[in-house]
Formats: sequence, structure tokens, C-alpha cells
Amino acid sequence: MSERYSIMDIQQIKQRFGIIGNSPALNRALEVACQVAGTDLSVLITGESGTGKETIPQVIHQNSPRKHNAYFALNCGAIPEGTIDSELFGHEKGSFTSAVDTRKGYFEVADNGTLFLDEVAELPLATQVRLLRVLETGEFIKVGASKVQKTNVRIIAATNVNLLNAIQQGKFREDLYYRLNIVPIVVPPLRERKEDIVLLFRKFAADFAEKYKMPSVQLSPEAKKTLENYDFPGNIRQLKNITEQISVIEQEREISNQVLYNYLPQRQNLPVLHQSASHSKSTSYSTDFANERDLLYKVLFDMKSDVNELKKLVNAMILGDVSSIPTAAMQQHIAYKGIPMVASPAKVFEPSKTPSIIDTQALEEEALSIPQKEEALIRKSLEKHKNRRHAAQELGISERTLYRKIKELGLE
Ligand SMILES: Nc1ncnc2c1ncn2[C@@H]1O[C@H](COP(=O)(O)OP(=O)(O)OP(=O)(O)O)[C@@H](O)[C@H]1O
Ligand SMILES: [Mg+2]
Repeated sequence: MSERYSIMDIQQIKQRFGIIGNSPALNRALEVACQVAGTDLSVLITGESGTGKETIPQVIHQNSPRKHNAYFALNCGAIPEGTIDSELFGHEKGSFTSAVDTRKGYFEVADNGTLFLDEVAELPLATQVRLLRVLETGEFIKVGASKVQKTNVRIIAATNVNLLNAIQQGKFREDLYYRLNIVPIVVPPLRERKEDIVLLFRKFAADFAEKYKMPSVQLSPEAKKTLENYDFPGNIRQLKNITEQISVIEQEREISNQVLYNYLPQRQNLPVLHQSASHSKSTSYSTDFANERDLLYKVLFDMKSDVNELKKLVNAMILGDVSSIPTAAMQQHIAYKGIPMVASPAKVFEPSKTPSIIDTQALEEEALSIPQKEEALIRKSLEKHKNRRHAAQELGISERTLYRKIKELGLE
């Protein structure tokens, strides 16, 4: 084992890797990472989506005797099932149609280094068998080969899926789970480290101020309390997105409680869906279903704010307050394209900014079309990022789900 790391070392690590926060649970996770770094033990990092699992393997590698050797991070969820064995273990020339050359896999090129298998629960069962063999014997065989090869790779895996649940469902091998989980590191959800929330907001606000070349947004004392008491289903990733939205959209740099509240989706407003969300909590951190559910939430939140605006408009019409409705628009059909990227703040109705409206039926139909909104969200995110991984992160779904959606919707 490596020597014990003092708190000072942990602080240095945070600085070096840009890790913000000082909660006991975060410090504990980093301490375990440091203690295990000097060994070759397998590490399994678990925690909800968006909690910051991806930095931990780098901390381990950089503090290990392997630090001058290769480090590869592989997203198992993003590699098509048909090629994953070849990616990991390599293949022989001619072993399948497109294998025009012999190719080395990660277990060969990462020899003496570290391999980070992110979203490890996404590995197909057949690949899990091969992985178990390498972990147990240090041996692997290229696809289409007969020669056994040796390798010395340190494995770190991460997942936001509850693997015990996946084992019960027959999706993950129990023996592999125990082999990977020699040292578990749990990255806590943000709601369990409330003291880090404002620190993170401040850091992200400063980063976005620099990025967008404007003064940093600041929270009023009440807004700080509201933020600390929010449950952040999307964890740090969600906090980062919210901070970016506020930084870009709000003119006033001091953020009041009321303004902030508009950016925090309230899940409890959706009783049926919320019930199933909390029901699944005990069995799964986040699955593809949960990812899709989150996307659905976003769509529903958008729809809710659309419907609120509609209600206000209809009320204004009933009360005869036509001054807020452009008369020319009365003759037009609706031209409604306002689809925000993420759960849109329920903004106060501003007549000058609303689309031209006469056919409220058409508007309602448009507002109620979930598949269309979902497609629009995905399109917008892809256009914005030009990168599937980033788009998937913003949408709060896995890359594999996004890949499937792109196919389903014919967006390629
Ligand atoms: N302690 C932290 N300080 C600063 N930024 C952080 C911290 N933890 C996470 N982040 C940021 O939050 C975002 C989400 O983190 P990350 O990608 O590691 O999540 P994850 O746990 O891997 O989630 P998923 O399971 O969905 O892949 C990233 O932009 C990351 O930089
Ligand atoms: Mg991740």
C-alpha cells in the first residue's frame, strides 16, 4: 500500500484536477483514491449520474507508479457491441469481414498502464467473460487468434447503474462484479454534500463569466439557501448547466431567489412520473430508462411552461385585455418555435416576446407533441455541440441512448 496521504495532499489533488468541494464524503472518496493508487488493485467507482466519477481514475493513475505509462479512458456505452471485443482485445487479420489488418486492442497498448472502463455495466455479457479472464489471469486472446497473450493492466471501472440490481436481472456477471469491486469508491450525490453546492456554483459562474466575457453572476443570501436545499437529480452536471443558463440569460448579475427558482425544475409537480422515479431509486441509480425519463421530464417541463403561457394568454383574451395580443397576429397562423434546450424557466409572460398567436388549438397541439419536442431537443443539442458525447451529457442521457435516438429519428 502507498503511504497515508495527509489533508494537504488531498487539497493539492483538488487543485491539480479542478475538483471543487470540501465535504467529508468527497474528501473520503479522494482519500481512498490516493490510498489505493500505489497498488494494482481493481477499483469500482459508483455514484449517480453527474456526480464527478470521471476524474477519480485520473487521480489514481497520476498518483500511481504507472503514471509515466499509458492511461486510456474507454466509454463502454459508446462502443458498438459488434466491435467492442476487437477494441479491447484486438483482432487478427481476416477474423471478420472488415479486419483487413491485425490490430492491437487496449489491453495490449495499455500494458503496464491503466485502463478506465467507464459505464462498465454496458459491456455485453460475452465481453464480460473475456474481461474476467484478463483480470484473473492477466491473459487474453485477440479476436480470431489462438495465441494467448499476457498483459499487465490496472483496471478502474465506473458506473451509475446499481450493479447488484443488474446482476439480479442477469445483465451483469456476479463474478466480474466481485473481481472489479475489490476497492469500492462511492461518489456521493450533490444533495448529500450541500456544503459544496455554493462553492461549485461560484466556480462555474466564474468560469462562464470568463467564457462569455461578462461579470460573474452572484446569488442573494436567500437564493443560496434555495440552491442548497434543491435535490439536484442531475447532480453537478445539472448545477453546471443551470449556472450556464443563468449566466447567459439573466441581465441582472445579482440572482434573486425568485429568479433562481425559475431555473430549478420541480419534480414533485409531476406526481405520476415522480412516483415511478422514486420507486426505481432503491434499485437503480440510473438506467437507460432513467435517462429517457429525464429527457421526458425536460420535455414535460418545457410543455408546462408553454401551457402556463397559454393560460395567461387565454385569460387575457377572456378578460378582453387584447392590448397584450398583437392584432395583426389575429389573422395569422401560429409560428411557434420556442423550444428551450433544457427545462425552461417558467418566465413571466411578456407579450412583446411571445410568438404571434391566433390558433390556440394549433398551439396546444404543438405544445403537446412529446416526440417532436424530444427530436427538437436532440437536434438542437447536436447542432450546438457537434459532438455526441457532449450532447448526450447536456441532454442527461447516455451516449448509447442518444445513438439509438439518432437512428430512430433518422437524424444522421
Ligand atoms: N468536484 C467537482 N468540481 C468541479 N466540477 C466537477 C466536480 N465533479 C464533477 N464536476 C463536473 O461535473 C460534470 C459531470 O461530471 P462527470 O462527467 O465526472 O460525471 P459522472 O459521474 O461521470 O456522470 P455519468 O454517470 O452520467 O457519466 C463534469 O463537467 C465535471 O467536470
Ligand atoms: Mg461519466
